[in-house]
Amino acid sequence: MKNIVLIGFMGTGKSSTGRLLAGRLGRPFIDVDRKIERETGLTIGELFAQHGETYFRAREKAAVARVARYRKAVIATGGGVVLDPDNMRRLRAGGVIICLTATVQVILERTGRRSTRPLLARPDREEIVARLLAERAPLYGQADFTLDTSDLTPQLTVEKIIAFL
Ligand code: S3P
Repeated sequence: MKNIVLIGFMGTGKSSTGRLLAGRLGRPFIDVDRKIERETGLTIGELFAQHGETYFRAREKAAVARVARYRKAVIATGGGVVLDPDNMRRLRAGGVIICLTATVQVILERTGRRSTRPLLARPDREEIVARLLAERAPLYGQADFTLDTSDLTPQLTVEKIIAFL
Protein backbone atom coordinates (compact mmCIF):
# COMPACT_ATOMS: atom_id res chain seq x y z
CA MET A 1 0.00 0.00 0.00
CA LYS A 2 1.33 3.42 -0.98
CA ASN A 3 2.17 6.30 1.32
CA ILE A 4 -0.04 9.37 1.22
CA VAL A 5 2.28 12.36 0.88
CA LEU A 6 1.08 15.89 1.60
CA ILE A 7 2.97 18.69 -0.12
CA GLY A 8 2.15 22.39 -0.36
CA PHE A 9 3.08 25.85 0.85
CA MET A 10 3.46 26.81 4.52
CA GLY A 11 0.09 27.33 6.16
CA THR A 12 -1.94 25.19 3.78
CA GLY A 13 -2.69 22.64 6.52
CA LYS A 14 -0.34 19.74 5.76
CA SER A 15 0.44 18.87 9.38
CA SER A 16 -3.05 19.23 10.88
CA THR A 17 -4.68 17.48 7.93
CA GLY A 18 -2.05 14.75 7.88
CA ARG A 19 -2.47 13.92 11.55
CA LEU A 20 -6.27 13.71 11.20
CA LEU A 21 -6.08 11.72 7.97
CA ALA A 22 -3.70 9.19 9.50
CA GLY A 23 -6.06 8.79 12.47
CA ARG A 24 -9.04 8.26 10.19
CA LEU A 25 -7.22 5.66 8.07
CA GLY A 26 -5.43 3.99 10.98
CA ARG A 27 -2.04 4.66 9.41
CA PRO A 28 1.17 5.98 10.97
CA PHE A 29 1.73 9.73 10.68
CA ILE A 30 5.14 11.25 9.95
CA ASP A 31 5.80 14.97 9.91
CA VAL A 32 9.17 15.46 8.23
CA ASP A 33 9.95 18.80 9.96
CA ARG A 34 9.16 17.37 13.41
CA LYS A 35 11.38 14.36 12.58
CA ILE A 36 14.26 16.71 11.68
CA GLU A 37 13.69 18.64 14.92
CA ARG A 38 13.83 15.43 16.96
CA GLU A 39 16.94 14.19 15.15
CA THR A 40 18.88 17.45 15.53
CA GLY A 41 17.50 18.59 18.89
CA LEU A 42 16.87 22.01 17.30
CA THR A 43 13.73 23.75 16.12
CA ILE A 44 13.50 24.56 12.41
CA GLY A 45 14.07 28.22 13.36
CA GLU A 46 17.22 27.34 15.31
CA LEU A 47 18.47 25.11 12.47
CA PHE A 48 18.16 27.96 9.95
CA ALA A 49 19.71 30.48 12.36
CA GLN A 50 22.64 28.32 13.48
CA HIS A 51 23.43 26.35 10.33
CA GLY A 52 21.66 28.10 7.42
CA GLU A 53 19.10 27.00 4.86
CA THR A 54 21.54 24.86 2.83
CA TYR A 55 22.23 22.68 5.88
CA PHE A 56 18.48 22.42 6.63
CA ARG A 57 17.81 21.31 3.03
CA ALA A 58 20.47 18.58 3.35
CA ARG A 59 18.87 17.31 6.58
CA GLU A 60 15.47 17.49 4.89
CA LYS A 61 16.74 15.48 1.92
CA ALA A 62 18.21 12.79 4.19
CA ALA A 63 14.97 12.57 6.19
CA VAL A 64 12.86 12.36 3.01
CA ALA A 65 15.07 9.58 1.61
CA ARG A 66 14.34 7.54 4.74
CA VAL A 67 10.59 8.19 5.08
CA ALA A 68 10.01 7.62 1.35
CA ARG A 69 10.89 3.96 1.99
CA TYR A 70 8.01 3.59 4.46
CA ARG A 71 4.75 2.02 3.32
CA LYS A 72 1.17 2.86 4.31
CA ALA A 73 2.23 6.06 6.11
CA VAL A 74 0.73 9.52 5.90
CA ILE A 75 3.66 11.91 5.41
CA ALA A 76 3.45 15.69 5.87
CA THR A 77 6.41 17.39 4.21
CA GLY A 78 7.85 20.90 4.65
CA GLY A 79 6.77 23.47 2.06
CA GLY A 80 10.17 23.50 0.36
CA VAL A 81 10.44 19.76 -0.21
CA VAL A 82 9.48 20.28 -3.87
CA LEU A 83 12.65 22.33 -4.51
CA ASP A 84 14.76 19.18 -4.82
CA PRO A 85 13.79 16.84 -7.68
CA ASP A 86 15.36 13.88 -5.85
CA ASN A 87 12.90 14.38 -2.97
CA MET A 88 9.95 14.30 -5.34
CA ARG A 89 11.25 11.28 -7.26
CA ARG A 90 11.64 9.33 -4.01
CA LEU A 91 8.30 10.37 -2.54
CA ARG A 92 6.45 9.67 -5.78
CA ALA A 93 8.00 6.21 -6.14
CA GLY A 94 6.24 4.98 -3.02
CA GLY A 95 3.37 7.38 -2.62
CA VAL A 96 0.41 9.27 -3.95
CA ILE A 97 1.15 13.02 -3.86
CA ILE A 98 -1.52 15.39 -2.61
CA CYS A 99 -0.95 19.14 -2.76
CA LEU A 100 -2.77 21.49 -0.40
CA THR A 101 -3.09 25.13 -1.47
CA ALA A 102 -4.56 28.31 -0.01
CA THR A 103 -4.81 31.97 -0.97
CA VAL A 104 -2.01 34.39 0.02
CA GLN A 105 -4.40 36.03 2.51
CA VAL A 106 -5.24 32.75 4.24
CA ILE A 107 -1.57 31.71 4.31
CA LEU A 108 -0.65 35.01 5.98
CA GLU A 109 -3.44 34.60 8.56
CA ARG A 110 -2.54 30.99 9.35
CA THR A 111 1.20 31.55 9.61
CA GLY A 112 0.71 34.57 11.87
CA ARG A 113 2.74 37.71 12.45
CA ARG A 114 5.43 36.22 14.70
CA SER A 115 6.00 33.28 12.43
CA THR A 116 7.97 30.26 13.64
CA ARG A 117 8.83 29.77 9.97
CA PRO A 118 12.24 31.36 9.36
CA LEU A 119 11.45 32.20 5.73
CA LEU A 120 8.42 34.25 6.85
CA ALA A 121 9.84 35.86 10.00
CA ARG A 122 10.40 39.24 8.33
CA PRO A 123 8.47 42.47 7.77
CA ASP A 124 8.01 41.92 4.01
CA ARG A 125 6.43 38.50 4.53
CA GLU A 126 3.49 39.30 2.24
CA GLU A 127 5.83 39.88 -0.72
CA ILE A 128 7.86 36.80 0.22
CA VAL A 129 4.76 34.58 0.26
CA ALA A 130 3.63 35.90 -3.13
CA ARG A 131 7.11 35.48 -4.64
CA LEU A 132 7.74 31.97 -3.27
CA LEU A 133 4.25 30.85 -4.32
CA ALA A 134 4.83 32.06 -7.86
CA GLU A 135 8.29 30.43 -8.01
CA ARG A 136 7.05 27.13 -6.64
CA ALA A 137 3.72 26.90 -8.50
CA PRO A 138 5.06 24.58 -11.24
CA LEU A 139 6.67 22.35 -8.60
CA TYR A 140 3.48 22.00 -6.53
CA GLY A 141 1.73 21.27 -9.85
CA GLN A 142 3.41 17.83 -9.92
CA ALA A 143 0.82 16.45 -7.47
CA ASP A 144 -1.70 13.73 -8.29
CA PHE A 145 -4.46 15.71 -6.59
CA THR A 146 -4.65 19.37 -5.54
CA LEU A 147 -7.03 20.78 -2.97
CA ASP A 148 -7.60 24.42 -1.97
CA THR A 149 -8.05 24.44 1.82
CA SER A 150 -8.76 28.20 2.13
CA ASP A 151 -12.41 27.62 3.06
CA LEU A 152 -12.05 24.12 4.50
CA THR A 153 -11.66 22.88 8.06
CA PRO A 154 -9.04 20.12 8.51
CA GLN A 155 -11.98 17.69 8.92
CA LEU A 156 -13.49 18.66 5.56
CA THR A 157 -10.07 18.55 3.93
CA VAL A 158 -9.68 14.97 5.18
CA GLU A 159 -13.10 14.00 3.78
CA LYS A 160 -12.18 15.37 0.36
CA ILE A 161 -8.85 13.55 0.33
CA ILE A 162 -10.54 10.27 1.30
CA ALA A 163 -13.09 10.80 -1.50
CA PHE A 164 -10.19 11.22 -3.96
CA LEU A 165 -8.37 8.12 -2.71
C1 S3P B 1 9.66 25.71 4.47
C2 S3P B 1 8.53 25.24 5.09
C3 S3P B 1 8.49 24.81 6.49
C4 S3P B 1 9.87 24.35 6.95
C5 S3P B 1 10.90 25.39 6.66
C6 S3P B 1 10.98 25.76 5.18
C7 S3P B 1 9.60 26.17 3.07
O1 S3P B 1 7.56 23.76 6.67
O2 S3P B 1 10.21 23.14 6.33
O3 S3P B 1 10.58 26.52 7.44
O4 S3P B 1 10.65 26.33 2.42
O5 S3P B 1 8.46 26.35 2.54
P1 S3P B 1 5.93 23.97 6.70
O6 S3P B 1 5.49 24.01 5.28
O7 S3P B 1 5.43 22.77 7.42
O8 S3P B 1 5.69 25.24 7.42
